[in-house]
Order: sequence, then C-alpha cells, then structure tokens
Amino acid sequence: MQLLDGKKIASEIRKELKEKIDVLKSQSKSVPGLVAILVGENPASQIYVASKSKACEEIGMKTKVEKFPSTLSEKELISIIDKYNSDNEYHGILVQLPLPKHINENKIIESISPKKDVDGFHPMSVGNLVIGKETFVSCTPAGIQELLKRYYINTRGKHVVVVGRSNIVGKPIANLMLQKNDYANSIVTVCHSAASDISYYTRQADILIAAIGQPEMIKGDMVKEGVVVVDVGINRIEDKTSSKGYRIVGDVAFDEVSAKASFITPVPGGVGPMTIAMLLSNTFKAYKLYGE
Ligand code: GUN
Repeated sequence: MQLLDGKKIASEIRKELKEKIDVLKSQSKSVPGLVAILVGENPASQIYVASKSKACEEIGMKTKVEKFPSTLSEKELISIIDKYNSDNEYHGILVQLPLPKHINENKIIESISPKKDVDGFHPMSVGNLVIGKETFVSCTPAGIQELLKRYYINTRGKHVVVVGRSNIVGKPIANLMLQKNDYANSIVTVCHSAASDISYYTRQADILIAAIGQPEMIKGDMVKEGVVVVDVGINRIEDKTSSKGYRIVGDVAFDEVSAKASFITPVPGGVGPMTIAMLLSNTFKAYKLYGE
C-alpha cells in the first residue's frame, strides 16, 4: 500500500505557483487576488476561510477576508459580490458555504461572475464541465484528479465508484472522471443513500471515492484487493485519549481498508490540502485568463 500524500503534493503545487508569482513581482506586474466572503459564525467555516487566506498569503497572492454577521441580507450580499465582480484587484471570489438559512445559496452562486468563479460552483462552470469545455472545476474534485495524476494512476477504462452525490464533490468528480481525456476516461458509477446495499457497488470499484460525510463508513469487506481509495471525509469523532477530546477521521475505516488498497489517501493530509491548492491554482488561472 502506498499513501496518496496530498500534503506533499499540495506543497509542491503551492511552490510552483509561488515561483510564478515571484516572476510577476520581479516584473512589477500585478498579482492574482482572491476575496473570501464569510457570513455568520460557523466555526468550521471560519477555520476553512482562515486557512485558504493564509495559503494565498504564503505564495504572495493578494487576499482579503470579508466577514459579515449572520443578519446580512441576501440583497446586501449580492451587492457586495457585485462590487467584487468589477474590482480589478480580485480575480477570484469565494463565498464560503453554508450560508445562513435566509440566504438562497443558488442565487448567491449565480451572482458571482463566471470569470471569477474559482470555486467552480456557478451553473455556467458546472455546465461547461459536463460538456467537456475548459472551465473552473470545483476545488475538491480538481484536487482528487490532480492527486491521481501526480501518482501516475491509470484511470482509463477503470471503474470509478463515487459514494455521495453532493454538488461540491460527488456530482462534479463523477463528471470529471467521465471526460474523454488523460487522467479520466473512466467508467463511473455514483451511489448514494438510496442504495439498499452500498457494498454491492463499492466492491466493484477499481478507484473508490468516498464523499459521504459518515465517519469510517467504508469497511474492509466493502472493497476489493488492490483498490485505489480517495477519502474525502473530514469527520470529528469523540476520543477521550486525545487532549482535544476528539480526533479527525475520514469516511473510510483506514486500518481495515488500507490493508487491501494499493493506494489510499490519509485523513487528514490527503484530499484536504489538495482542495486549497486547487483554489490557489484556479485563482491563478482566473488572473491569467481575465486579469493580467
Ligand atoms: N464549504 C465546504 N466546502 C466548500 C468549498 O470548497 N467552497 C466554498 N465556498 N464553501 C465550501
């Protein structure tokens, strides 16, 4: 078994981007910029946004976090986004999800200019992905594909089984792996909570992508020998032996499944760091395409 070391690969990607930004700076050019918008006090969202913004700073990108109370209205949020849609210094706009209940997420996502949609959530970006046009691919699926690519994992004709059908991971990774190009061209199955027996599907996987949000749900007897496993889950479970009182686990029972896998992502240190690296990469792409 070999680990798919997302932490290491993400750090390589950040270094590559930093080198490109250093060149821009040495030529006295403008640099890519990302604005992250956070509404409300969700603790996980606060941590995610802080680490995204820190990652931007570390590679020399311009970055700003705009924080608003959960009482912000939908109309106010749209006018803030509008302001950044026409701000030349910010090439990417990220609105951290989930949003407070009184704000319609779809409406907010649609108000972001597709040219600045570095999260790849806009219906235009999603549509382009489905029909195989160059676009912003959402960061977690893009990170998974990049990880497979950098470990030279053959995906052509392989059976990719995705567990989970979210708009952020399940649906886009399925579409990405279906594309007729390198590091995709797979046979794709998406299964989800309505399946009476998930293991019927997971046992067929050459490449298993678990994005369910259920701690350690995928057990050793649910996969075949030699499977490549990508665990997207980040779940907190109680652990009295830890000083924090909890520990982070994925959607995959790591010890059991890694005994059968050829490759597997650890949690933490697998997909998570790749998501942030792809956000930086999408922001750089937005700058190159529309902002330089
Ligand atoms: N919430 C959970 N994941 C994400 C993400 O990738 N982007 C945004 N904007 N919000 C999220």
